[in-house]
Amino acid sequence: MSIDSRLEVTPSESSTAGVNKHGYRSFALREFHFERDEYFVHLSWPTGTHVMSIDAFLRALQRDLAWNFFYGIVNFDGVFGTVNHYGTVDIFAGRYNDAYRKAELDHLENVDTEEIRDVFAAMLDDWTNAGFDPFASPSETGSAFGVKHGSNTEAVTRRRVVAARMVGLPGDEALRTDEDGHHVNRQFADVEQDEPEVHANDGYEDRVGAFNLAAYLSRSPVTWNPSIVSVCRDSLMCPTTEEYILPIMHGNDRAEWFVVLSDEIIWDVEDRDSGAKRAKVTMKPGDVSAMPADIRHQGYAPKRSMLLVWENASSELPDLIAAGKISPLPVEF
Ligand code: PHB
Ligand code: FE
Repeated sequence: MSIDSRLEVTPSESSTAGVNKHGYRSFALREFHFERDEYFVHLSWPTGTHVMSIDAFLRALQRDLAWNFFYGIVNFDGVFGTVNHYGTVDIFAGRYNDAYRKAELDHLENVDTEEIRDVFAAMLDDWTNAGFDPFASPSETGSAFGVKHGSNTEAVTRRRVVAARMVGLPGDEALRTDEDGHHVNRQFADVEQDEPEVHANDGYEDRVGAFNLAAYLSRSPVTWNPSIVSVCRDSLMCPTTEEYILPIMHGNDRAEWFVVLSDEIIWDVEDRDSGAKRAKVTMKPGDVSAMPADIRHQGYAPKRSMLLVWENASSELPDLIAAGKISPLPVEF
């Protein structure tokens, strides 16, 4: 075995321009550089370097991209992540980490959303091997590791469910069925699949609807991926099915509410800016929690669970909270 692994590169391994000896492309976004090998992503920026397990990185990258950089901050871990400014995105290292800040090793670049989207999409597609689905639970997908072998473009470009009014209404997102490939998950085999009967008065057929949310969620093929199933002005109902670990630590720019509909979810809650530990919240079916706008959170689901995330999509909230005009706390007791 060679000490300097570069000596192991043979012409055939390194023959394709821009592809490293593991078969992967390298990427740059301004002063951030991204490189992958069999197990890890290696990040670098002018004041530092960082390493993450590639499976965790791809799971976070998949969500950041699919959610169009989400609300507020998406921490891939305690060091690296993005902040959504709805038109531009900050990409940062150490910005929300007390030790990096104090040592002045943090770094941030502000880029147009399109620019980061293009780089992240190309990176996700190139670095995801055949058989690995970053949205699937670890028990229901293959491995992210190894030298480059194939791709899974269909999975990494999957369309997100975003209802205009409500799932099941005419012209809106469809219910899930066996026929369209949405089978009941192994852990939701006991969920009843009947649908409510709707008897609308004449003329109201396209304005009245109802559907079985538990049945809909039991057929979700993905984890930690809130779908927008109903919309009332800025009020978005975003249920999701959870298993294993939420791949991001979300630092929201507004309050949000969680209702656990089945099984159990444990939340780690930290200060949004420093990462200092704030709380651990264990939620059982029927429990409701309100996440303030000055924290970040990450969830753990030991068994597949149904969670309702309730978001207020008003574009005015981040500025009102940042200016201190409204409280970061959704409720005070
Ligand atoms: C969140 O960050 O609030 C979040 C994200 C994805 C989920 C659940 C919660 O599946
Ligand atoms: Fe959140």
